[in-house]
Formats: sequence, C-alpha cells, structure tokens
Amino acid sequence: MAAALSLVWSFKLMSVVLLAICSLSDCYDPMDPNGNITVTFDILQWTSNPDGYLARVTIQNYYQYRHVDKPGWNIGWTWANNEVIWSMKGAFATDMGNCSSFKSQTPHSCKKDPVIADLLLEQASPENMTAGCCRGGTLYPRTISPSNSFSSFEVLVGTPEGHASSAHAPKNLTLLAPGPGYTCGPLSDVDPTVSSDIGGRRHVQVYRTWESTCTYSSFLANKAPMCCVSLSTFYNPIITACPTCSCGCREADKSTDSCMSMREGAQLSSSSSADNMDIVKCSDHMCPVRVHWHVKNNYMNYWKVKLTVSNYNYQRNYTDWNVLVQHPNLMLLEKAYSFNSTLLPAVGLGDEVGLFWGLKYYNELLLNADEDKVGSVSTEILLRKDFESFTLRNGWAFPRRIYFNGEDCQMPPPDDFPILPNGSSKQKPFHSLVLALIIFSFKTLL
Ligand SMILES: *[C@@H]1O[C@H](CO)[C@@H](O)[C@H](O)[C@H]1NC(C)=O
Ligand SMILES: *[C@@H]1O[C@H](CO)[C@@H](O)[C@H](O)[C@H]1NC(C)=O
Ligand SMILES: *[C@@H]1O[C@H](CO)[C@@H](O)[C@H](O)[C@H]1NC(C)=O
Ligand SMILES: *[C@@H]1O[C@H](CO)[C@@H](O)[C@H](O)[C@H]1NC(C)=O
Ligand SMILES: *[C@@H]1O[C@H](CO)[C@@H](O)[C@H](O)[C@H]1NC(C)=O
Ligand SMILES: *[C@@H]1O[C@H](CO)[C@@H](O)[C@H](O)[C@H]1NC(C)=O
Ligand SMILES: *[C@@H]1O[C@H](CO)[C@@H](O)[C@H](O)[C@H]1NC(C)=O
Repeated sequence: MAAALSLVWSFKLMSVVLLAICSLSDCYDPMDPNGNITVTFDILQWTSNPDGYLARVTIQNYYQYRHVDKPGWNIGWTWANNEVIWSMKGAFATDMGNCSSFKSQTPHSCKKDPVIADLLLEQASPENMTAGCCRGGTLYPRTISPSNSFSSFEVLVGTPEGHASSAHAPKNLTLLAPGPGYTCGPLSDVDPTVSSDIGGRRHVQVYRTWESTCTYSSFLANKAPMCCVSLSTFYNPIITACPTCSCGCREADKSTDSCMSMREGAQLSSSSSADNMDIVKCSDHMCPVRVHWHVKNNYMNYWKVKLTVSNYNYQRNYTDWNVLVQHPNLMLLEKAYSFNSTLLPAVGLGDEVGLFWGLKYYNELLLNADEDKVGSVSTEILLRKDFESFTLRNGWAFPRRIYFNGEDCQMPPPDDFPILPNGSSKQKPFHSLVLALIIFSFKTLL
C-alpha cells in the first residue's frame, strides 16, 4: 500500500512538471497541429406530431495518429430547451431518465444531459443501423483508415411545442474518448452539409448544420506515462535501457514476477485502488509498453534499424496499435518490412515524422505478456542515406521522439546513448550537451 501510495505521489509530481511544460505552449502538438475530432449535427428533416427534428450526428477523427480505442467514445451534451430523444439509430443513450410525464408514447431518453454511446456490431439489428455506426465507439486515425475514422448515428429529437425550426443547438458538448482529455467548443451554425446525388450531377443539402471541434490535451487527460524507449547498436555491445522509473518505480521486493502499474488513462487524482492499476511484468522502467530502436546495419548507401514494440501488460492486448517516430532520415524511408507505414506532414519540425502500424491479419494485435515472455511485434526498417547528414556519431541515428498510441514515450537522456567506440568519446561531452539542449528546448516547446 505504501509503495502504491508513493507511486501515486511520484505521478502527482510528474503531473506538476507536465503542467509547467504545458502551460508554456498550451500543449500544442507540432506533430499534428491541425488534429481534432469534429462533431457535426446535420438536421435532415423537421418533424411534426410530435414536433422536432431528425438529426445525423457524425464524429470524425481528424487526428493523424491519435485513435479512440475500446471501450470507445461517449458523447454528451445538455439540451438547450427541454428536448427529449424519441428514438435513436446506430447508437443509444446510456440513461433513459425520468419520462413519467409522457403518456401515450415513451421517449428513448428524457435526460436533460444525455450521454450517447456506440453500439457493438453484434448488438445492432439491421433496422437500428446507420452507415458508420456500430463499431463499439472506436475511431481509427484518418491516416490509417479513413473509412473507420468516423462514427455516425441518427437521433429523432422532440422539441417543446412551437416551431421546431427555431431549435437551439445542444450546449456543453463533452467527449470522453474513452477517458478525459478532450475539450469541445460550442456547437455553432455552419454552412449546411452538402452531398451529391444522381452520380454527382445534383447537390443536396441538409436543412441545418451545427458543428463543434474537440481537441486533445495530454495534460487534461492526466495520463500516467505508459511507454519508454530503449536503444542499442551493432557497434556497441552496451544496451541503453529505458530510464529507470519511466512509468513508476519497482517495489523493493524483487522476488515477484508481476508488478502493479498505474493503469493507462487512470486519473492521477483518484486513489490507487485496484481498478486503477494494471498488472505488468516487473521491470526497472515499469512501463506497460517499451519501444526498442536497434541500429542494425550500416551499408554503403543504406542503413537499417530494427524496431521492436513490447507489451509488458499481463491483462491487455493492444489492437490496432500505432507507433510514431520522429527522425530526420525518415524522409528517405525505403521500406518497413513487417509494419505498414506512412510519412506525416510535420509542420515546422524540420525532422520527418513516420507513422507505423501493424499489417492486417499479421501483427495488428500486440499480445499481452505471459509468464514466459512479453508480447512483441517488430520490423526492420531500411533507410536510404542522405550523405549530407548521415552519421553514427552524437546520437544522430537515434529517434528524437517516439509515441505509442499517441502517448509520448520516455527517452533515455542523450548522455546514456550508445556511443561509437574509439575516438568519438573525445567529442562526446560537448555534442551530447548540445543534443541535450536541443531535446530540452523541444520538450519545453511542447
Ligand atoms: C479540424 O481538422 C480539419 C482537418 O484537418 C481542419 O480542416 C479543420 O480546420 C480543423 N478545425 C479546427 C477548428 O482546427
Ligand atoms: C419525474 O418527473 C415527474 C414530472 O416531471 C415528477 O413529478 C417526478 O417527481 C419525477 N420523478 C423523479 C423521481 O424525479
Ligand atoms: C432497434 O430497433 C427496434 C425497432 O425500431 C427497437 O425496438 C429497439 O429498441 C432498437 N434497439 C436499439 C439497441 O436501439
Ligand atoms: C455549460 O457549462 C457551463 C460551465 O460549466 C455552465 O456554467 C452552464 O450552465 C452549462 N450550460 C448548460 C446549459 O448546462
Ligand atoms: C489477447 O488476445 C489473445 C488472442 O486473441 C487472447 O487469447 C487473449 O486472451 C487476449 N488477452 C487479453 C488480456 O484480452
Ligand atoms: C496498409 O495500410 C493501408 C491504409 O490503411 C491499407 O490500405 C493497406 O491494406 C495496408 N497494407 C497491409 C499489407 O496491411
Ligand atoms: C580502439 O579500438 C581498438 C580495436 O578495436 C582497441 O584495441 C582500442 O583499445 C580502442 N581504443 C579505445 C580508446 O577505445
């Protein structure tokens, strides 16, 4: 218990540090400056008897590498005018609320502040389905799968007596995806959504459209660190391990094989109850996930890296995981043998940012650890050399930053990077100081 408490304390401390970093820059993410989740209410039809409207709500993930994982999104709002939900297709309100004032017909939900969740495919009958519904609330990054990057459902809204077409947009939109972290702006009127008909020859528009943009802040998400980076090279037998205590500190008793680690997404303010803890394989870093970068070969015109992602969590598989890597040479990424990959446009970063994810039916599932081994997926990456910049010195060959599933992984300090044997050690202190400064200024910028 004492150990768990000290764990919580160390996270609280980290979150204070995070706050300091974030307040400088408002947690702006240079890897994805335009990323957002946009929520759109399209009013398809006014209805009478009862008065109201039929709306299609679309949740579109415009983030390039941030996804919404199981158990999926929850979207909520506060009705402006005592509206009720008569029925829904493709999603459901989690609470019916007090509908006792309705006599002949019972609405789907009478809550003033309904919370909506997506259906699972197996819960949806054909008549309850809409295009883009029923994926258990998961949203892919648009870069990885545009067709799975949105959810859509229909809601039949009853307005109080009077003309429905003067309806007010719902207020105080909230998005849990699945935990906290997103802040949504007000739903406001925008140009009505237009779609095409008759093979693109006719344009049809909805009656009215309200839109809101939700953005993610890792500070608001208050997540415990969940990932770290380790490094090795062919030219130095020393492996640079993840920084000790990257995601928490191991208990003094080293005889056990399993450890308790703060659950990914657990709020730091909450107590360290078992619900908020994960059981992971014990390690000095205590992270549920480790990403290893091994500089494997140095050819005449190419060089090769082996990238391995390991899951230390005993109770959790990562489905559709992704890894984001920032490295200046990724622009010349020739081939990732066993992962799918793409380059992201990184505005104002100078370095290239590559996104890697699993191949369908091969390694898109990162399995949980068991007694014998950690779960892992790996690939070799072939990079063409840019002779202007390529060097094995001064840590250039190592990634500048790595994210796993959108979460920043703890890097080892540049002083601990594997060094070239012979000679290079003379220059090391100066260069690693410069590198440390660069990395520090990056961190403060973020
Ligand atoms: C949300 O993302 C889309 C797509 O990148 C972009 O067009 C739009 O401007 C963004 N909205 C805001 C408010 O940033
Ligand atoms: C439910 O609503 C009715 C009418 O609006 C009200 O009289 C009743 O007290 C409410 N019941 C509860 C449990 O809030
Ligand atoms: C599905 O539709 C049927 C008939 O419209 C309705 O009775 C049922 O409650 C709906 N189920 C869900 C989960 O919305
Ligand atoms: C929306 O949230 C704000 C701030 O939390 C609150 O002051 C306001 O009353 C809320 N509006 C509604 C309609 O609930
Ligand atoms: C992970 O997936 C494998 C294979 O589908 C399954 O056997 C295992 O029970 C899953 N583990 C967890 C923790 O869900
Ligand atoms: C790689 O990703 C793209 C985009 O999601 C997809 O179309 C393609 O099928 C994937 N390739 C493999 C081999 O999984
Ligand atoms: C340099 O390398 C040679 C052979 O690899 C080795 O014998 C020598 O000790 C090394 N010198 C230093 C300073 O590491």
